[in-house]
Amino acid sequence: MTDNFSNLTQEKGKRRSNLFSVPMMDWTDRHCRMFHRLLSKETQPWTEMLTTKAIIHGDKNRLLDFDAAEHSLVLQLGGSEPDEMAACAKIAQDWGYDEVNINVGCPSDRVQSGFLIF
Ligand SMILES: Cc1cc2nc3c(=O)[nH]c(=O)nc-3n(C[C@H](O)[C@H](O)[C@H](O)COP(=O)(O)O)c2cc1C
Repeated sequence: MTDNFSNLTQEKGKRRSNLFSVPMMDWTDRHCRMFHRLLSKETQPWTEMLTTKAIIHGDKNRLLDFDAAEHSLVLQLGGSEPDEMAACAKIAQDWGYDEVNINVGCPSDRVQSGFLIF
């Protein structure tokens, strides 16, 4: 897959633009993000919000893998435990994400159900 999309790749760590392909839970998985990449080379994709517990206890490959053409890519975290947030930021760095964003204002029911910071 990477070979087919090598013309879309970007140097890691270099933001493409301030035009974001915004995070949307249950939508912006890697397949959706690659579709967006095919629509534009300019956008910066964000993952959907991933909870710290899902990352720590879940299937990391399924949740975190991405294509090189997605760079520069932001991982959005949702969580309320500082130790877990720090652990996930480290995991994101090791996995090759370019940035980490902390969700502190999503109107989703799941986010507002009490398990997050606010
Ligand atoms: C289905 C859906 C899921 C969303 N999930 C997230 C999310 O995971 N994290 C987040 O920060 N915002 C989330 N949002 C908000 C969007 O990223 C975006 O900020 C918002 O939709 C833009 O505002 P608008 O819907 O008023 O145009 C979501 C929005 C929708 C419609």
